Amino acid sequence: MSKEDEDFVKVADTNDIKPSQMKEVQVAGESICIVNVEGKYYAIGNICTHEGGPLVDGTLEGYEVECPWHASKFDVRTGEVKEPPASEPEPVYQIKIDGNNILLKKQDKKSKSPLHQIELTLIEKDKVEGTDVMSFKFNKHNDDSDVENKTLLDYTAGQFAFFDIGEVYNDPKGPIRHFTISSSPTENFIMFTTRIRDSPYKKRLLALEKGTKVKVRGPEGQFVLHQDYTKPAVFLSGGIGVTPFRSMIKYATDMQLPVKIIMFDSNRNLNNIIFKKEFDEWASINKNFKIIYTISEKDQNDEQSLSLSTATDDWKGEYGRINKAMILKYVDTHVLDNSIFYICGPPSMLKAMQSLLQEDLEIPKERIKVEEFTGY
Ligand SMILES: Cc1cc2nc3c(=O)[nH]c(=O)nc-3n(C[C@H](O)[C@H](O)[C@H](O)COP(=O)(O)OP(=O)(O)OC[C@H]3O[C@@H](n4cnc5c(N)ncnc54)[C@H](O)[C@@H]3O)c2cc1C
Ligand code: FES
Repeated sequence: MSKEDEDFVKVADTNDIKPSQMKEVQVAGESICIVNVEGKYYAIGNICTHEGGPLVDGTLEGYEVECPWHASKFDVRTGEVKEPPASEPEPVYQIKIDGNNILLKKQDKKSKSPLHQIELTLIEKDKVEGTDVMSFKFNKHNDDSDVENKTLLDYTAGQFAFFDIGEVYNDPKGPIRHFTISSSPTENFIMFTTRIRDSPYKKRLLALEKGTKVKVRGPEGQFVLHQDYTKPAVFLSGGIGVTPFRSMIKYATDMQLPVKIIMFDSNRNLNNIIFKKEFDEWASINKNFKIIYTISEKDQNDEQSLSLSTATDDWKGEYGRINKAMILKYVDTHVLDNSIFYICGPPSMLKAMQSLLQEDLEIPKERIKVEEFTGY
């Protein structure tokens, strides 16, 4: 075998990928999309550089692949972005055909990915009592003797990263998910928080032992606090969508940022409000931060559902989904007219909140930032 041959690895068979078709392959832990355009094969990164959509599930037209999540387009020959919202190009890889074998050139580790990849060690798992929510904490520094105390992952509050936990079998989405970093850069650990569901990925996540190393790529995302602190922030959070808000509020509180933050936090019932203790504590020390909880599953007159919760008598929050009347009860005209609005949660909640802000409250699109948690 020549030196050149050694540099290539077989990734697929030409019979597996018909013209205008795509196939995902995993090479050294990297997800790559092999594409057939009129009998010629190309290899492009499979994880969309926007927010991680799987390009292989998108559509191929000529040399352009369209991401199934928010319709970014990339040229499979060069990786170049052809349509936003993605702004970063995809990596592309050299392909060689030998008989029916599709061979991919092995990557030089340093030039592999446009995103920074690091390894973090799991140091703690924290279950939020009464819920299926769990936080996973990782080391922030290499070790205590790290003189420069340099953080392994330099991120802005509200950003997310891709977590590759390996050894995930029979999960159509593979071993990588993106999670918002729910810790603040001011904290001494890196954390994400998620619902433990039935997918093989989540089962493996639950079983991870302390000391396990996971691969992390990032940080990514623009869902971060605005810089002009004269403008207040209004956060609309649904369930697990609370994670970027935890990071931003903790950061604003620790840094004593002079920015007014009003958060509406919608959860199904009293017993599953994520991070309530911390939010209450931060609201007591940060005069710029106010939080309004609402229990979305019930309304005030629903006696049967109220009795499900033992602590309902002490409940000082709201009932029902976030709506116009609720917002106007806590947000005065000045704040309404000047705020930047942030929405985060599952897709159904996002849609409802966007229409509430744009149609009912006539907030212009330019003042609304959204982060959608796909997968729920
Ligand atoms: C920008 C961004 C930030 C995010 N931040 C967070 C966050 O902070 N916290 C959070 O929780 N989530 C977050 N998400 C969503 C997250 O990436 C996951 O999609 C979500 O947690 C659901 O993961 P999952 O594995 O449970 O399900 P999915 O990602 O929906 O994957 C489930 C897959 O497993 C398959 N499957 C399910 N059950 C089984 C089974 N029993 N056997 C075989 N296959 C099965 C399904 O067919 C599906 O393909 C974020 C998403 C985005 C886009
Ligand atoms: S366009 Fe691909 S993830 Fe948004």
